[in-house]
Amino acid sequence: MKKILVAGGAGYIGSACAEYLLDRDYEVVVFDSLVTGHVKAIDPRARFVQGDLADRETIIELCRKEKFDGIMHFAAFSLVGESMKNPSKYFRNNLASAINLADAAVEGEVGHFVFSSTAATFGQPERVPISEEDKQEPINPYGESKLCFEKVLKWYSRIYGLKYAALRYFNAAGATGNYGEDHSPETHLIPIVLQTARGKREKMMVFGEDYPTADGSCVRDYIHILDLAQAHMLALSAPESGHYNLGTGNGLSVKEIITAAEKVTGKPVAYDVAPRRPGDPAKLIACSDRARKMLGWKPTMESAEAIIESAWKWQLKHPDGYCDR
Ligand code: UFG
Repeated sequence: MKKILVAGGAGYIGSACAEYLLDRDYEVVVFDSLVTGHVKAIDPRARFVQGDLADRETIIELCRKEKFDGIMHFAAFSLVGESMKNPSKYFRNNLASAINLADAAVEGEVGHFVFSSTAATFGQPERVPISEEDKQEPINPYGESKLCFEKVLKWYSRIYGLKYAALRYFNAAGATGNYGEDHSPETHLIPIVLQTARGKREKMMVFGEDYPTADGSCVRDYIHILDLAQAHMLALSAPESGHYNLGTGNGLSVKEIITAAEKVTGKPVAYDVAPRRPGDPAKLIACSDRARKMLGWKPTMESAEAIIESAWKWQLKHPDGYCDR
């Protein structure tokens, strides 16, 4: 049985990945500070260690003692707007604290390191779909902090032989039967659309309808968290280190998401058009051929309706989220 450390396993994507591994008989240790994570999002089958990656000695000691086969690193801040106001918070946590985890991986002789990277490392893409070789020029400290850590991993791989996979998610979405999206404040499109559908919000804002897209609203590539979990598990046994873009390859506009949500929920979603949100690229779509070919990855939930339906079921079961704050 393989033993995996899931750093950030109380967060949105980390909790789904921990559950996915446990369902497949992995042994999982969740390490989380609970600064943004939720106790109720920790799978009860996992062992939980509460801690902050900033505490270098603790994480190094844990990895030395436990002899993990792999580390999955989800423990990061991820709000683009906040990173523009407080870059220090992002570089300290997403880079400096992550280096402690990479050092712990080396000290503990951990076989594989799977890192949650992001499409935000590409900045304003010159073309879509975006492939792994395209230019990475982040336009905010969040994306830059993730790109810096990708580079740390590249050097640790060369110098210490650490095997890693940097998985660049496009727009993570959806829920499992047990775990879903609960951020405070919530800024992500799908949970906001669904909160509007069930009347928790009177109306929502569509940020910009003057983009060079078919209906003028921004286009994104929404990828279900269970498909992200599948990629993480496959990356644990990849023979070589590598970078992989993860999306379905289908671009959906903000307005298309609203229409799909109205169909799934059977309820209207009221919105106003607001000015563009600073830092939003018009279109982000992944080319994920490399992950499909090299990891054998195959997304299973490619339609907007299927993704939204899973998030809708979770919201109906958890109308106020995890309720632990
Ligand atoms: N949007 C609205 N109204 C809202 C919320 C969002 O119109 O109330 C729009 C945004 O302007 C954007 C799209 O919906 O065009 C998606 O926005 P999200 O906030 O859901 O997601 P982002 O594309 O901004 O960001 C997500 C992750 C980041 C990651 C990025 C990479 O949150 O961490 O994808 O693609 F960097």
